[in-house]
Amino acid sequence: MSNKMWGGRFGEGPDKIMEEINASIGFDQRLFAQDIGGSKAHCAMLAKAGIITQADAAEITQGLEKILGEIESGKFTFSRALEDIHMNVESRLADLIGPTAGRLHTGRSRNDQVALDFKLYVRDVLDHFDEQLAAFQAALLARAEEHAATIMPGFTHLQSAQPVTFGHHCLAYVEMAGRDRSRFSDARKRLNECPLGAAALAGTSFPIDREMTAKALGFDGPTRNSLDSVSDRDFVLEALAAAAITATHLSRLAEEIVIWSTPHFNFVRLTDSFSTGSSIMPQKRNPDAAELVRAKTGRVVGALTTLLIVMKGLPLAYSKDMQEDKEAAFDALDALSLSIAAMTGMVSSLSVNEAAMRAAASRGFSTATDLADWLVQKLNMPFRQAHHVTGTLVAMAEKKGVDLDALSLEDMQSVEAGITKDIFTVLGVDNSVRSRTSFGGTAPDNVLASVSWWKARLGKNT
Ligand code: ARG
Repeated sequence: MSNKMWGGRFGEGPDKIMEEINASIGFDQRLFAQDIGGSKAHCAMLAKAGIITQADAAEITQGLEKILGEIESGKFTFSRALEDIHMNVESRLADLIGPTAGRLHTGRSRNDQVALDFKLYVRDVLDHFDEQLAAFQAALLARAEEHAATIMPGFTHLQSAQPVTFGHHCLAYVEMAGRDRSRFSDARKRLNECPLGAAALAGTSFPIDREMTAKALGFDGPTRNSLDSVSDRDFVLEALAAAAITATHLSRLAEEIVIWSTPHFNFVRLTDSFSTGSSIMPQKRNPDAAELVRAKTGRVVGALTTLLIVMKGLPLAYSKDMQEDKEAAFDALDALSLSIAAMTGMVSSLSVNEAAMRAAASRGFSTATDLADWLVQKLNMPFRQAHHVTGTLVAMAEKKGVDLDALSLEDMQSVEAGITKDIFTVLGVDNSVRSRTSFGGTAPDNVLASVSWWKARLGKNT
């Protein structure tokens, strides 16, 4: 049997393989609420514009609402022969209300319909990410406040560099999440034009009111070019690009949690609720959730690449290639949502081993820069020379197997005669972080000020 929605000119039905490659219902059924919502808005507009009668519109709307209920309660049978969500819904509408159902598709095409459905879906996801990222920031801020003065080693090249505070480290991720939210919000602004009414590609001769449908569906207005409306997937690309950056941020924190929770570092301990054991090695506590967040980044970056490649060779306007926009995007957006939730859970619940962090921060001559800065500030030494003197002192401490602040004043003076006992006021890790008061620096007071700054802004999308 040929397709009952478009089979008028077809003598025979599709090959099984044709049906399999052509159908999208397996994944686009997820768009059912958007599809039905869009159809209701279109139907109301058709009636208002006098294109269909109010009586037909009422019947169509009731039918659509019934279908929504059927799908929501799992009673709807999706058919692969009907290809996609649009035709599954329309065909069911015909079962329910008869030939009047056929009036719904007036002045519309599946091309503008699918663009609309997917836009509505992505818009919801962007709003959801914003809420999730605000919760993630709130979790980080709570830890930052609690650990404003907790000393940990700051790293470059994953080598101990200078002491920082754990609060400051948490705040670095608050900043990243803030930029992520701003990217999603920016994408949402550009997304928010309604493609419905572009029809197949050229617009329509029916006197449709695109302002009306745009407004009913929460858009700022209708898209301005019908060809662009049905061939544009920038809104998905932008969502995925922003998602890829967010996933990359989460992956970096996940990587840090993996490192910090090893017995070698022992900086943090994940709760049992966010750890797994090994079936053979009873001592193991594995940070699987963090590892999976790190790995899921691949799906998100992959989906962005997938869609860029799908789109890059397409002449205007719609081509069926564009049906391949959904699976990877759904998968990636789901993966990111789960990842944000998992990271929020880990951040809120992990315990911080302050003693281990402090001990690590004190090792590795992490206050050498403070010593050099003292030489510059107190002895007016050029920084390069101070760097050299400090290097000599580090070598001496290393040879003696002690930290810089354990060298005697005499030892120090044998390298630089001008050094006084005042030097010891800058050598401890606490002194070091407390002195980092430059704007954006790690001093505990700065951390607390930054926490309040963020708390005042958290509700607002930056
Ligand atoms: N299932 C299609 C998609 O996801 C809907 C649009 C089909 N349009 C068409 N002219 N065949 O893109």
